[in-house]
Amino acid sequence: MVALFLLFVSEVYGFNYTVSGFGSGANFAHQLHIAHSGTVIGAGLVAPSPYYCAMGSMARAATACRVNSYLLNLESMILYTINAATASSIDNVKDISNDRVFILSGLYDKTVPQSTVSVTLQYYQNFITNSYKIDSVFNLFAGHGWVTDNAGGPCWASTAPFIINCGYDMASYMLTFLIGNLNPKTLQIPTNLMSFDQSDYVDIWQAGLSTRGFVYLPQYCVTNNDCFIHMAFHGCRQNYDMVGDVFVRESGLNEWAESNKIIVIYPQTVATSGNLDGCWDYWGYTGANYTYQSGLQIYAVNQMAIKPPHVLWSN
Ligand SMILES: *[C@@H]1O[C@H](CO)[C@@H](O)[C@H](O)[C@H]1NC(C)=O
Repeated sequence: MVALFLLFVSEVYGFNYTVSGFGSGANFAHQLHIAHSGTVIGAGLVAPSPYYCAMGSMARAATACRVNSYLLNLESMILYTINAATASSIDNVKDISNDRVFILSGLYDKTVPQSTVSVTLQYYQNFITNSYKIDSVFNLFAGHGWVTDNAGGPCWASTAPFIINCGYDMASYMLTFLIGNLNPKTLQIPTNLMSFDQSDYVDIWQAGLSTRGFVYLPQYCVTNNDCFIHMAFHGCRQNYDMVGDVFVRESGLNEWAESNKIIVIYPQTVATSGNLDGCWDYWGYTGANYTYQSGLQIYAVNQMAIKPPHVLWSN
């Protein structure tokens, strides 16, 4: 009986989901997508560096994955991906070709410049041959930040809390591209933004995660089980401990979620001595398997999608 119920739950909620992220959160959303391309059907990435750009090295994470894109070797990252899939460490690369990807890179982003994001775009173009499944926005005068149409600092800024007002409803374009036509957005309901205990899913100490994650749970999804799951990942120096609820409240996603039956899960990192900025793991601080399904953070957040917080509460 219990097993049957769990199967039902995972099929309804966790079978397909979409992801997004900014900075290290974009790198991580991208890694999660490649690792689980059979179930992650869309990725919205703001300033992403390509899969395995760091090759397990913190020094490369700060160079090749950021301003020194000449250190990136596209062919070797593609080969690494294919080998990981052949070894069943990640899903079959054929699954990537069915998915949709939205990539945004600001003209004024000097942290992860367009030269680096272009390699991420080329990486995806290698696996997704239908060009209409990839949307790239490279023409905004935006700095290094999560783009909104009405919240945050000036569009050109690249400073904490990394929410920038470019008068561009990125949440709308991104979610529409990934999920399909949406109902008009509505106001978010503050009490529908809640926190949950991430230690229900994983050893948070080993995985470098905070005790507390956040979830925006639309009124409809409290009592109905046909909601979409979207998971959004904050950037470095942007977790709850560092910026409070700015990202989880001002991402622009919640307004669309409320009117479109989308549960938005906002997992949270914790800063540690090996990861002072609370970045998502894109160089291996949680272990050598950080790009695989067995990577601790990838494992943890995928579990959250399969069994989202309110399902956990109702059990
Ligand atoms: C790391 O990945 C390899 C290859 O997929 C796997 O055999 C091994 O069990 C993984 N190690 C851990 C600690 O998960």
